[in-house]
Amino acid sequence: MKDLEMIRESIGQCDDRIISALAERMQHIEEVIEYKKKHGMPILQPEQEKRQEEVLEAKLEGSRYKEEIKDIFSYIVRNSRKLQARSLFEHNIFLVGFMGAGKTTVSKYLSAMLALDRIEMDEIIVQKEGMSIASIFEEYGEEYFRNCESNTLMELRKRAQLVVSCGGGIVLRDENIANMKKSGRVVLLTATPETTLERVRDSDERPILRNNMNVEFIAGLMEKRRERYMKAADIIVRTDGKTVLEVCEEIVAALSAEG
Ligand code: S3P
Repeated sequence: MKDLEMIRESIGQCDDRIISALAERMQHIEEVIEYKKKHGMPILQPEQEKRQEEVLEAKLEGSRYKEEIKDIFSYIVRNSRKLQARSLFEHNIFLVGFMGAGKTTVSKYLSAMLALDRIEMDEIIVQKEGMSIASIFEEYGEEYFRNCESNTLMELRKRAQLVVSCGGGIVLRDENIANMKKSGRVVLLTATPETTLERVRDSDERPILRNNMNVEFIAGLMEKRRERYMKAADIIVRTDGKTVLEVCEEIVAALSAEG
């Protein structure tokens, strides 16, 4: 029987091999990034990740530690993706658009896809103020809420590589548009008034739509804000009839093309 110190010594040697293997793997990831950039290929290729997963599954067939090793690999892959995403997006990604355009849903998926941190502006305001958006509107009025929004955006200006899901009215102030453009790219998500109504009809957390849950009102307000959204947008992606994956792939392709 080996004594405990010897076993620990062997574990330490395993760790050394893991560290150098990981460093080597990361280096190869950087080579892949370089190659793809040189040949104008998309940096993130979810289908390749899927293939890798299948290969790993096959390699681990029958292993006693299959689940544990798969878990570790999920972190390795996440970190490779982070490395790749970092090479693509140095700035923040701001998702803007009318209520119900899919900003929250898309931000969750996109941040996972790119391994970037995610921020939900409305959530930050709710936390800071200690009350719901509806209560802020009711007690202090819309102007106060818009100030909260602008202040929150200002606080984000020093941060990078975030996916930020903005409130639908963020584009109403020029200073907000300027601040978003200073630290990132603005992605406008759109949906028809009909799709929008479908998505928001059961929500009672949107004071602006309270008692206005109909296509006419939504279409009217969208039209009023259209110019503001267009002014903010670097990239426009329609979401009607698309899956969240399709929307995210379009965003990544458009942002990559922009450089
Ligand atoms: C608003 C949109 C809401 C929220 C507030 C005001 C707007 O965010 O910020 O109710 O003026 O369009 P969502 O677009 O995330 O619903």
